[in-house]
Amino acid sequence: MGREALITANANEMKINKLYLGDCIKIMSEWPEKKIDLIFADPPYNLSGNGLKWKGNKTGGDWFMMNEEWDRMTEPEYLQFTKDWISGCIRLLKDSGSIYISCTYHNIAEIMLVLKQLGLKIKNVITWQKTNAMPNMTKRVFTHSSEFVVWAVKEKKWVFHYEELKRINPERQKDGSLKQMRDVWLMPLVQGKERLRGVKGRALHPTQKPEEMLKRIIVASSNKGDLVLDPFLGSGTTAVVAKVLGRNWAGIEKQKKYITVAKKRILSQNISA
Ligand SMILES: C[S@@+](CC[C@H](N)C(=O)[O-])C[C@H]1O[C@@H](n2cnc3c(N)ncnc32)[C@H](O)[C@@H]1O
Repeated sequence: MGREALITANANEMKINKLYLGDCIKIMSEWPEKKIDLIFADPPYNLSGNGLKWKGNKTGGDWFMMNEEWDRMTEPEYLQFTKDWISGCIRLLKDSGSIYISCTYHNIAEIMLVLKQLGLKIKNVITWQKTNAMPNMTKRVFTHSSEFVVWAVKEKKWVFHYEELKRINPERQKDGSLKQMRDVWLMPLVQGKERLRGVKGRALHPTQKPEEMLKRIIVASSNKGDLVLDPFLGSGTTAVVAKVLGRNWAGIEKQKKYITVAKKRILSQNISA
């Protein structure tokens, strides 16, 4: 794949294994319906400027103050935005398709409400328990250490690879045998070699998701050769894991700086499953 070919110039044409620079709601509205097998969406949580102030955290370490323009809306704006992008996704999903949406307690209510209003069936709310959660800054609440992933389907013939999930489950039974994958996933915030860093070690994206999380989702709800879409691609985690697992992918991202990060990351990923 040529370096230039990865970012498509023609946003209104849906092609596989391409990055799209722009607003996902607009781009998705121009694509044909029912072509996507699986969507993972990690939307803005609407957290920036909401009191998460941690002055001096400029190192780009594993914890970070969120202060991004794409993450700041009023409550009514945020609900409308949630309705718009989820409707766009659902139009693109095949009837057998699944959507997984990453969220926190800040936005899970809007997401569940919109999914229900659109007639989706919620199959699981997965808890991501962060084993290296951010320290408690205010000391006035229980220490936040979890995020959620809401999984919803359109109709009864959804894909779910129960046995394969057992095989990739790092947890084992006491006798060493395979264990069912539960809906609580223990994994750290992305750190070490997996964390993408730029100058002075600053993280290149504030909310890079663990590859292990995407692996579980993609293995669970897609087959090799299927098409996986991420409308909020960020640093490219979904595309990279989809590629490694032999799935096709499409990724949309509004900010050029993150498209550049994702492009480099995808091109440097040569493993194929
Ligand atoms: C929570 S981050 C996703 C992080 C990603 N999961 C990763 O592992 O790097 C959300 C991303 O969505 C992008 N974004 C926000 N609004 C968008 C929109 N309307 N269309 C496309 N991308 C958008 C932001 O620039 C940001 O990179």
